[in-house]
Amino acid sequence: MKLGTLPKFPLAHLPTPLTVARNLSAALGGPEIMVKRDDLTGLALGGNKTRKLEYLIADAQAQGATHVITVGAAQSNHCRQTAAAARVAGLNCVLVMNASSEDPDIQGNLLLDHILGAETRIVTDKAARQPMTIQVAEELRAQGYVPYQIPGGGSNAIGSSAYVAATYELMAQLVESGASPTRLYTTSSASGGTHAGLALGAKLAGVPYSVHGVSIEGRADHLKKTVITPLANQTAEYLGLDVRLSEDEVIIHDAYTGPAYGVATEECLEAIRLCARTEALLLDPVYTAKTMAGLIDHIRTGEIGADETVMFLHTGGVPAVFADTASIIPAMQAASAS
Ligand SMILES: Cc1ncc(COP(=O)(O)O)c(C=O)c1O
Repeated sequence: MKLGTLPKFPLAHLPTPLTVARNLSAALGGPEIMVKRDDLTGLALGGNKTRKLEYLIADAQAQGATHVITVGAAQSNHCRQTAAAARVAGLNCVLVMNASSEDPDIQGNLLLDHILGAETRIVTDKAARQPMTIQVAEELRAQGYVPYQIPGGGSNAIGSSAYVAATYELMAQLVESGASPTRLYTTSSASGGTHAGLALGAKLAGVPYSVHGVSIEGRADHLKKTVITPLANQTAEYLGLDVRLSEDEVIIHDAYTGPAYGVATEECLEAIRLCARTEALLLDPVYTAKTMAGLIDHIRTGEIGADETVMFLHTGGVPAVFADTASIIPAMQAASAS
């Protein structure tokens, strides 16, 4: 397997901690809950993209890039971490972002993009990101620069390889701690690199746990068929592996997505409150709180037994709370008053 020899530009503080959330377990009257803290990867407020960017930035450097270009929503954690990674690597960064207005609030991740000095191009239609990316790349080439395009979420075979590697990091921690968890909960998204890498890693490494993706956008069948399984298999091919995943080996729960990407649900606001007030564990309303809402519901409904040990991958994203105070503040106040 090529994994050990892939070029890597060091950005993350690894291994990230694997902690035990005793107060949260007690509050739920349930299983032992372990938290893999990829929110603590350490690059400009951290998150899951830092691992992927170690491989993507190394590839950009190998291709002689002067600039990286990537895409996301205005509150994209991926864009913020890419802007930060580019700075550390001495590269320039252009972010093509969709927002509901041409002049979005400069808050949360977008504020950090500005502090990091990334160039931002805002489009008001998500479909306009790709043509704008092509235009930016052409502009840069015309000026003699070498642009390198990083896909949304850093989710291609190069980026997903990082979560195959993370599986081995996690396994070493499990062996050291003696824990034998039955499940790992992670966000499953339409970019999908984290879930795809973890699902492939789990099959390869023969882990004791099953990987449970919680969808934050899109139906489970659609994500399995069009995103997670194909990306896991492209990653396997990229790594020179014979192993392949079938759709029925991929587990996705889509009951916690809510009406749309980025729209906070009651359950996710409750997860934010509960994790903060039991563990001082901060979650974001777009990704991690919806994923935690799935885990909490599975404990409450008995799908996860009280004698099991389960893991939650904290993928970061907390800067987004500063951009969604309209949902978060009333939910926290209501809970304090009750
Ligand atoms: C905090 C957070 N969690 C999870 C994800 C999803 O990761 P992936 O793109 O690998 O599916 C993202 C993607 O932007 C994210 O920012």
